[in-house]
Amino acid sequence: MTVHSSVGAVTQVVLLSDAQRENLPSTTPMANHRIPSFMAADLVIQLSCTLKTKPDRGSFGFGTVFTDHMLTIEWSETEGWQAPLIKPFGDLSLHPACSSLHYGIQLFEGLKAYRGDGDRLRLFRPMLNMNRMAAAAKRACLPAFDQSELLECIRRLIEIDQDWVPRSDSASLYIRPTLISTEPTLGVKKPSRALLYVILSQVGSYFDNEAEAISLWADPKYTRAWKGGTGDCKMGGNYGSALFAQYEAVDYGCQQVLWLYGEDHQITEAGTMNIFLHWINEDGEEELATPPLDGLILPGITRQSILELTRKWDEFKVTERFLTMGQLCSALKQQQVKEIFGSGTACVICPIGHVTYQGKSLKIPCQGENSTLTSRIAKELTDIQYGRTVSDWTFLV
Ligand code: COI
Repeated sequence: MTVHSSVGAVTQVVLLSDAQRENLPSTTPMANHRIPSFMAADLVIQLSCTLKTKPDRGSFGFGTVFTDHMLTIEWSETEGWQAPLIKPFGDLSLHPACSSLHYGIQLFEGLKAYRGDGDRLRLFRPMLNMNRMAAAAKRACLPAFDQSELLECIRRLIEIDQDWVPRSDSASLYIRPTLISTEPTLGVKKPSRALLYVILSQVGSYFDNEAEAISLWADPKYTRAWKGGTGDCKMGGNYGSALFAQYEAVDYGCQQVLWLYGEDHQITEAGTMNIFLHWINEDGEEELATPPLDGLILPGITRQSILELTRKWDEFKVTERFLTMGQLCSALKQQQVKEIFGSGTACVICPIGHVTYQGKSLKIPCQGENSTLTSRIAKELTDIQYGRTVSDWTFLV
């Protein structure tokens, strides 16, 4: 059992089972681990004694309503990882010189918990998020951790806040693991302190009208990512620095940016999503294509799942290949484009209806509801996520 002193309105609660404690190594906390890591068995839990009122069903936005608890795990160069702590949701206290604020030394993840068949809570391929987070931590010079230990801590957090997982198949609980440098000095250097925390938020659809195709603005004057950069990591800077272009897209009457790269205007990503083109390619073959993971592209879990799913169908060619605006324009002219869609955890699948490029509005075909590849993939994925289809991609909470 772990006892933690009470703070303010927080009640002392001790929840660790004997079985969990039995798994603790006998000598040092890190003794049995290849990667020096925190361990879920060390979890300390302080439950909030004032639970928040949950908003009415149907009023979910994206990321505005947070649950009662959060997970925090502190790290320092000298002490290593501290015991994970689940505590009442609240503000962080950071040193004003904290290098995540000054130099953007931070990263995040995004995954969802779904309440589905049998009132069970499910995560979708969460180890892929954990692994991507570990890869980004390495790139950001932030500390390594054991990915399965983090997943178990997150599972416990969701279990505690389980009533917040919406009873709706158009909503879910968004999980936001975050790792920030808390280095309290102004030198640009590898952090000597860090904080890993996880917050949970009830979410509905990411875009205002999820069913509607969105419009993209494509202009090579802004670049989201570049060779050798960090476009393949979920670092806040990739998103914050995209904001200016995003608002210019809105000025041009579009909802999101179609990110281009290089002299040949390679198509890379759409807003915060990966992008797929379903078309008849230059060789007359039906193909589903998405840009390859060349360092510019975020290795999306939805992207990977779409590739694996459609390759299993074996109905058309599925490729990771470079695509340019020139190829798209000539395919549109020859009516060879079937559809284009974006994919991501937040939106799952989002059809694209227009692209504004070089002063022209290019209409992208969408073949009507329920007959498109977009809606077929969306249905197959959401059936797995909500447990209507049994799959080994499901992780039960
Ligand atoms: C996601 O789709 O998972 C995202 O990362 C979008 C997020 C930046 C809101």
